[in-house]
Amino acid sequence: MADASASRTTPGFDRLTADTAILRRIRLLRAIPGWNALLWVVVFSVAINLLLLVLPFYSIQVFDRVITSGSVETLVGLTALAIAALGFSACFDILRNRLLGRFAVGFERSLAPLVLKASIVDPAKRSEAGPHDMVRLRELRNILSSGTASTLIDAPFLPVFIVVLYLIHPWYGAIALAGSALLLVMAFVSGRVARAELAQASGTAQRAQRALDGIVSHANLIRAMGWTRGAIREFLRLNDAALVPVVKANERVSLIASIARMIRIVLQVLAIGTGAWLVLQNEVLSGSMMASSILISRTLAPMEQLVAGLRTLTSAREAWARVRSASASALRTQGRTLLPPPIGALDISGVAFRNPNMKRLALVGISFSCAPASVIVIIGPTGAGKSTLLRMIAGLERPSAGTIRLDGASLEHWDPDQLGHYVGYLPQDVALLGGTVAEAIAGFDETACDADVVCAARQANAHQMILGLPNGYETDIGRDGSKLSGGQRQRIGLARALFGKRKLILLDEPDSNLDPDGEEALCASIAEAKARGATLVIVTHRPRLFTVADLILFLRDGVQVGFGPPSEVLPKTMAGATPMRHARPVPTEKPRPDIIDGRL
Ligand SMILES: Nc1ncnc2c1ncn2[C@@H]1O[C@H](COP(=O)(O)OP(=O)(O)OP(=O)(O)O)[C@@H](O)[C@H]1O
Ligand SMILES: [Mg+2]
Repeated sequence: MADASASRTTPGFDRLTADTAILRRIRLLRAIPGWNALLWVVVFSVAINLLLLVLPFYSIQVFDRVITSGSVETLVGLTALAIAALGFSACFDILRNRLLGRFAVGFERSLAPLVLKASIVDPAKRSEAGPHDMVRLRELRNILSSGTASTLIDAPFLPVFIVVLYLIHPWYGAIALAGSALLLVMAFVSGRVARAELAQASGTAQRAQRALDGIVSHANLIRAMGWTRGAIREFLRLNDAALVPVVKANERVSLIASIARMIRIVLQVLAIGTGAWLVLQNEVLSGSMMASSILISRTLAPMEQLVAGLRTLTSAREAWARVRSASASALRTQGRTLLPPPIGALDISGVAFRNPNMKRLALVGISFSCAPASVIVIIGPTGAGKSTLLRMIAGLERPSAGTIRLDGASLEHWDPDQLGHYVGYLPQDVALLGGTVAEAIAGFDETACDADVVCAARQANAHQMILGLPNGYETDIGRDGSKLSGGQRQRIGLARALFGKRKLILLDEPDSNLDPDGEEALCASIAEAKARGATLVIVTHRPRLFTVADLILFLRDGVQVGFGPPSEVLPKTMAGATPMRHARPVPTEKPRPDIIDGRL
């Protein structure tokens, strides 16, 4: 039972999800393999920053000792020491950058399975607009291995430099402290300005991206309808609207960054001037003047970088919040006890559903149940909520009220991967994954073998049709199955829904593109799946499928108008001005194709 779902995980994923109880207790970052490399990063950073003190120390010694004593040996010795120390510092810097780079890659690789899983499993994540959390994860990886991360790691050492400056002379300390505080305030202001304007831009940027996606994926339609110029103009309009706040934010941030640079240079000049004055007052020696100038520059330079970089940090913080919430959501779905394989008893009680941003309920008070190996046909006018109900039974949407149970267990209590293994779903728009026909049928099932693929195709009565394709099962179907006809897509979609040991098969208008022969083949497939013990829930507008129905559910405006055997429910559908008004009574025998054609 656990075999298929367990074998579909990747090693990195296993490592992260192995013990969710522990993972919940410790911080997510610690769950990343190699996180202790960060300890080495800290060790190297301490060494790098301490070694940086060598330069001011060297200038003090050269100016105040060598020049006064005139000892060339001391000068050579001190210079050799300084070069060696700076060489070590450079090596540590290389090592630190490598460690950060590798940690960043490990960070992305470890969290990617969780983030991806959340975007597949969590309905809230699935319907989210905007950049995918994977894009945010990638952004975090880039930031982790960038100079901004090193600047941040060095930040705790700035107070040390300020203290050293204060020890040389309090005035140096005061200049460094005031300069750092001023630049820090500017960094925050710049972060705020950028954030306010970019938040405003994100809505328009999403609209521009959606328009671009639409244009690219419907390029053929746009070409055929002569909309090329209009599409380009519309994209440019949306893109311009998205760019205006970005350009404004960039201008303001660069202005603040330029002012910050000017302030830093002025402070450095001020430090040299103050040093000279202190030398004239005999308060410090000329060596310490040089040393303090180097140290002040070392203190203020990262603060200046922060003015331009705080925007990156703000967006990194937001990206981390999203990635953490996605990972936590993926981890929450772990640890479900695997239930025995279902026999297909479906029970729906008091189910209601509200679409996001809709006042009206899309479905309300849906209650019915059926024994295993039943065929339930859902009918009703357009917009009645048939597909919505099927999506909920497939576990794609959570009911706003009520419960859907399979074999007595609420869908929420099933392990999603295990449940998916027993549920076959053919959506209304078919939505085939690209690749070959065989890949489209088997999907990402890692346990799939060729015999299973052929068996599913035979069950869907699609085997002969597939053999007739240019390359048989290896035919490339194009993106979303674009190289197939509508009916071929539907048959392959049906084979995918029947693939494996499905016990609950959900078909949303599987006959919408089929000719009468295809409908006959579909009815035969349904009968065969039923004979195997599978429960089928089928949405249709065509009466041919009524003949294979054990039960009919009639929906109108999201309300269950009737449920029961066809002989009871179908007469109701013909009463009044319902969309079933053209339906003919269910034939007792298999109807001839010429009298069953047509959409209700
Ligand atoms: N993602 C969505 N967001 C908001 N409303 C939606 C969404 N999907 C569907 N709806 C609305 O929910 C209602 C039910 O839609 P549904 O797709 O279930 O209808 P249906 O009975 O399958 O119709 P059809 O026979 O045309 O396929 C409709 O009013 C539709 O506009
Ligand atoms: Mg529908």
